[in-house]
Amino acid sequence: MNKILIVYHSQSGVVERMAYAVKEGIEKIGNFEVVLKKAEQANQDDLKTASGIAIGTPDYFDYMAGTVKDFFDRTFYPVQSRIAGSLTANMLCVFFVSGGTGGQPAMESLKKISMAFKFKVIDYVVCGPHLSEEILERCVELGRKLAETVKNKQ
Ligand SMILES: Cc1cc2nc3c(=O)[nH]c(=O)nc-3n(C[C@H](O)[C@H](O)[C@H](O)COP(=O)(O)O)c2cc1C
Repeated sequence: MNKILIVYHSQSGVVERMAYAVKEGIEKIGNFEVVLKKAEQANQDDLKTASGIAIGTPDYFDYMAGTVKDFFDRTFYPVQSRIAGSLTANMLCVFFVSGGTGGQPAMESLKKISMAFKFKVIDYVVCGPHLSEEILERCVELGRKLAETVKNKQ
């Protein structure tokens, strides 16, 4: 069964609720194993075995959270192959971000680091510090879109 990895950081719960909404969206498509992990618990094997990835973070000081950056730092070399190149090249990817003033800088930091991993970013959701039903619905739709795109790629 194909696997989709959701990696996120959250302290006060906004991004965590977004992560579970993304999971709900993936599960709507069905036939996927969804692995949802806090960034400090996720590792290179989670990444290597995934067909798609959703990454969530609050904006901290105009950047992604330290645990999310640490996830990228720990996994970058292990996903480089001397023969095959980046093992995560073209891996389908979505982001979800929350920030006190909207989260755009953290989003930009995710986009930049994703270029090194060669992820194929297909969509994202950014929101302020307060969740609405509309944002959660957009996260469900984000997960659904990721799963459907992964499915169509096979
Ligand atoms: C240490 C720290 C730094 C933050 N820096 C920013 C920032 O630079 N820009 C911003 O928009 N929000 C900033 N925030 C606010 C959080 O991004 C915002 O409250 C977010 O919704 C928290 O997500 P969470 O509920 O998943 O923890 C910061 C919060 C903390 C704790």
